[in-house]
Amino acid sequence: MRASCVRSRTRTCGVATAGASGRRAPSSRTQAGPPPFTGAAARSGHGGGASRTPGSSEATRRADAPFPDRTAALILCPMTSIPQDQPREPNPLHALTLDQLRRRTSMKWRTYPADVLPLWVAEMDVPLAEPVVRAVTDAMELGDTGYPVGTAYAEALAVFAGKRWGWDDLAVERTAIVPDVMLGVVEMLKLVTGPGDPVIVNPPVYPPFYQFVGHMDRRVVEAPLGAELRIDVGALEEAFRRAVADGGRAAYLLCSPHNPTGTVHTAEELAAVAALAERYGVRVVTDEIHAPVVTAGARFVPYLSVPGAERGLSLMSASKGWNLAGLKAALALAGPGAATDLARLPEEVGHGPSHVGVLAHTAALRDGTAWLDAVLAGLDENRRLLSDLLAEHLPGVVHRPGEATYLAWLDCRALGLGDDPAEVFLSRGRVALSSGVPFGSGGAGHVRLNLATSPEVLTEAVRRMTAALE
Ligand SMILES: Cc1ncc(COP(=O)(O)O)c(C=O)c1O
Repeated sequence: MRASCVRSRTRTCGVATAGASGRRAPSSRTQAGPPPFTGAAARSGHGGGASRTPGSSEATRRADAPFPDRTAALILCPMTSIPQDQPREPNPLHALTLDQLRRRTSMKWRTYPADVLPLWVAEMDVPLAEPVVRAVTDAMELGDTGYPVGTAYAEALAVFAGKRWGWDDLAVERTAIVPDVMLGVVEMLKLVTGPGDPVIVNPPVYPPFYQFVGHMDRRVVEAPLGAELRIDVGALEEAFRRAVADGGRAAYLLCSPHNPTGTVHTAEELAAVAALAERYGVRVVTDEIHAPVVTAGARFVPYLSVPGAERGLSLMSASKGWNLAGLKAALALAGPGAATDLARLPEEVGHGPSHVGVLAHTAALRDGTAWLDAVLAGLDENRRLLSDLLAEHLPGVVHRPGEATYLAWLDCRALGLGDDPAEVFLSRGRVALSSGVPFGSGGAGHVRLNLATSPEVLTEAVRRMTAALE
């Protein structure tokens, strides 16, 4: 415990130093923008104590030591003394410096200019789990880069599902590999609907639900989330009723856990969904990509494990849990009543996933649980840190921390920044968050922030958001 404290402190000091004064991002010593936070949340990582409002004395803040050196030391100590469920692995969110991250060439790091701090698209600022690196390295050394075959990925998921979620009925024979979750969603929807048919979604929801469904010539029908950002069964029933009123086919694209709110649907809610779907003849396709990213205190319930969900279809993947979006592979799963649908999946769909991707995802599920637990513990810390920072510096922002995903859905309507606060945070604060607008009804005035980063980057992001309002 002590050893890991020392180790992670050293690493994180590196993150912060490189982060705030690195080659591309302007350092807090030299940049024209506002200086670092000095408030309680930034100091302790847990808030409390005296607070400073965003508008407090510029002179006071400028007199303080610069952001990187101080926060690196001060944020970490409380984080290394969590008494319970301390994972055996060091926190992967502490491992990489901002300089290292800025060398990445993926979407998160190359969409915006180098002076922008990116906390938008769902990529994590972590090194890969060692079992994943080993699996991919072994494949490279062996030249094992051919086509995928077999059920190893599904078998690894079945074992993971049994241990993690107590779901022992994952039927490997009712699975198929697909290139990724969204292309899997498209294929599942093609199996159970036709052109022009309605697909019901629960906004605010992951924007590609609109894009992909639209591109495949289906109609998106909204059944917005209700109180406390949970499924509104009444709104869903009304949407189902209207969707099948003309006697046609309809599907419900369920996001479980829900992106962007982090809502973990309960067994009761899912059973209610299944019952409604059966009553109205609506087919359920569930995107469960975030299922591994659920906090220890919550319980993820696989849709296909719920009574009445036999005709359901699901998409699962190690992609979000282990940061493998670039190593394309996912699994489609069918309940017993959907087996004949999945059997109609064209063979060529299975040629889309990368064999190396399948190897990586399989290794993650089979041997990457300790690493995942370390990430989840780090995300819990970040969720608390974000709440504290917002309470202290941006009290007008409403944040209801979710129990899953590494995304925070922030209601910024009270800030008076219009429909698209992300635009203001980007242009004035040089921090990239996801705009809430493309998430559908209920998205305007909101932003989505990616928490899967170091406490220092998170603190700097809130500092920049605060600066954007000054
Ligand atoms: C809910 C949800 N589904 C699907 C995806 C994309 O998954 P894939 O890259 O496997 O298509 C994401 C990515 O963030 C997501 O949040």
